[in-house]
Amino acid sequence: MPDPQAALAEQVRAALTAEFGPACADADPAIRPSAFADFQANVALALAKRLGLPPREVAGRIASHLGDSPMIGLAEVSGPGFINITLSGEWIGAAATSQLADPRLGVGRAARPQRIVVDYSGPNVAKELHAGHLRATGVGDAVVRVLEHLGHTVIRAAHLGDWGTQFGMLIEHAVDVGEQATYDQLAAGEFTDFYQAARAKFDSDPSFTDRSRERVVELQSGDEQALRLWHLLVADSMEYLRRIYKRLHITLTDADMDPESFYNPMLAGVCAELEADGIAVISDGALCAFPPGFTGRGGQPVPVMLRKSDGGYGYATTDVAAIRYRLLDLGADRIIYVVGSEQHQHLAMVFAVARQAGWLTGAVSVEHAVIGLMTGPGGQRLRTRSGEQFKLVELIDEAVERAEEVIKDRYDDPDLRASIAEDVGVGALKYGDLSVARSSSYVLDFDRLLALTGNTGPYLQYATARIRSIFLKAGLTPGDAPGPITLGEPAERTLARTLLGFGPAVTETGQAAEPHRLATFLFDAASDFTTFYEQCPVLKADDPDTRSSRLALSALTLAVLTTGLDLLGIPVPDRM
Ligand code: ARG
Repeated sequence: MPDPQAALAEQVRAALTAEFGPACADADPAIRPSAFADFQANVALALAKRLGLPPREVAGRIASHLGDSPMIGLAEVSGPGFINITLSGEWIGAAATSQLADPRLGVGRAARPQRIVVDYSGPNVAKELHAGHLRATGVGDAVVRVLEHLGHTVIRAAHLGDWGTQFGMLIEHAVDVGEQATYDQLAAGEFTDFYQAARAKFDSDPSFTDRSRERVVELQSGDEQALRLWHLLVADSMEYLRRIYKRLHITLTDADMDPESFYNPMLAGVCAELEADGIAVISDGALCAFPPGFTGRGGQPVPVMLRKSDGGYGYATTDVAAIRYRLLDLGADRIIYVVGSEQHQHLAMVFAVARQAGWLTGAVSVEHAVIGLMTGPGGQRLRTRSGEQFKLVELIDEAVERAEEVIKDRYDDPDLRASIAEDVGVGALKYGDLSVARSSSYVLDFDRLLALTGNTGPYLQYATARIRSIFLKAGLTPGDAPGPITLGEPAERTLARTLLGFGPAVTETGQAAEPHRLATFLFDAASDFTTFYEQCPVLKADDPDTRSSRLALSALTLAVLTTGLDLLGIPVPDRM
C-alpha cells in the first residue's frame, strides 16, 4: 500500500527528469500537504534558480507531465510556482482497498532497524507513583509500542530508584517498627505513610539520623540484615508496581525495572576511568566532571558530582554508569529518556560527559523526550485538598468513577458496566495525556477528558463501538467486507484519504517520540468517519456495490482506529 506522499514524490521526480534531464533527478520534490488540494509540490522554485528559467514555466512543464499519471486527478500551477495536486479518486480507492488487505494497514517497517533503549516511568522503591509519573509512564509506553511495531528492537528501562541514602532511613525505620509490621503496611500499599514516618524521624531525631547513615554503609557493604530488609522493601514495591502497570495497560515487566542498584558494582570503575581520562577531577575532596557549556549564574562551571567527599555515590553517578552501559554493553543506536523537564540540565550534563568520554559518538542519538507538568486548575502543581501530591491510584479511581457516571444509564449488568467504566476511565486519563504535546504542561480537567465529543479517549472508543455495531446489525464481521472501496461522495473520499496517512503518522511518531502525532491522526480519522456516517448511509446504501464499498471503508476505519489506539496503549471496550 503506497504512502501517497512518498508515491507522489516518485511521480514528481519522474516528471522533472523527463522534462529537464537526469541531472535534475536529485532535486527535492518538496511535497507538502496543501490547504487547497491534497498536496503541493514546491520543487519548481528551487529548480528554476538552478535552470535559469521562470519558476511558473518550470512548474507548468512539471504539471503537464503529472497530468498523465493515473495517481493524479489534477495538477495546477498556483502563485509564484507552486504545483497544487489533487489525487484521483480511483487511485485513493484502490490504495484504500489494498490498505485494508494489508495486515500492517500500510505501516512500513524501519529500513534500518535500531536497538533503542527507552528509559521511562522512573518509579522509586517505597514510594507510590504520583500524578506526575502518569505522563512519563504513558508517553514512554506508547513510544515503546510504536517503535516495536516499526520493527525496532526496544529495550525498556524503568530505572527504578532502589539505591541511595534514603534506604538507610527506610531500613532503620523498618527495624524500629519490626519486620512483620513493615511487611503488613507495605503489602497494603501504604508506602507514603511508611516513607513519611521514616522521614519525620530522620528530620527530627538526631540519633535516628546517625543510625540511618550507618545503615547505608552497612547496606553498601553487604550486611545481611540490612540487605534482607532492603529486599523486603523492593519486593513489596514491585508487587505494587505490577498491579498499577497492569491496571494502566503498561507493558513494563519485572525484567524491565533496570534498578539503580544494578549499576552499583560499576560505579567505582566508571569514576576511575573518567579520572584517568582527565574528564573528572577532585574538587573540594569530591570527584567531579565539568562538561563544557554548563555554567552557573556567575559563569562558574557546574559540576556533575561523581563521588562525594565522604566517598558516596549519587544519582548522577548512576546515570553516568547507566549511559555507558547502554552505549557500550547494550550497543544502543538510540536512547530516549522520557523524563520530566525539571531533569533537563541533569540529563544534558550526563549526555555531555558520555560524549567527552568517547562512549557517545556521532552515529548514536541520545534524546531527552521532555515531559511537561500536569497541573491542577490555575496552573499550580496538582495537589489533594490536604496539600499532598495526588497519588496516581487516586487519579485513576476518580477517572473510573466519573466514567461510570457517564455511561451508567446504558447498562443494567453491573459487571459489564464496571468493566466498560474501567476501560473508559483509564482510556480517558491516558489519552488526555497522550493527545497533548508531551513537553507542554496542561491542566487536568476530568470533564474535558471524559467528554464524548472532541479529541478525547471516549470519543475514539465510541467511534470504534459504533462501527462494530454497524457490522453487528448486518450480521457481519469486519472480515466479511474486503471491498473494493470505490469513492463517490466527498465524505468518502476525505475519510479514505485520511486513513492512508496512518503509516506516515506511526513512522513520524516513532521518529519524534511524540505520541500526540498519532493521537491527532486518530482523532482526524474518527472525525472524518463521523461525517461520513452522517452523510453516507452504509447498510441502506442505494446499491450493493456502494454498500459493500462503504462497509469496507468502515472496516478499514475500525482496523486503523483499534490498531492505533493499541499502539497508544488505550484499552478499547467492545461496546460502549
Ligand atoms: N526515579 C527518578 C525520579 O523519580 C527518575 C528516573 C529517570 N531516569 C533516569 N535515568 N534518571 O526522579
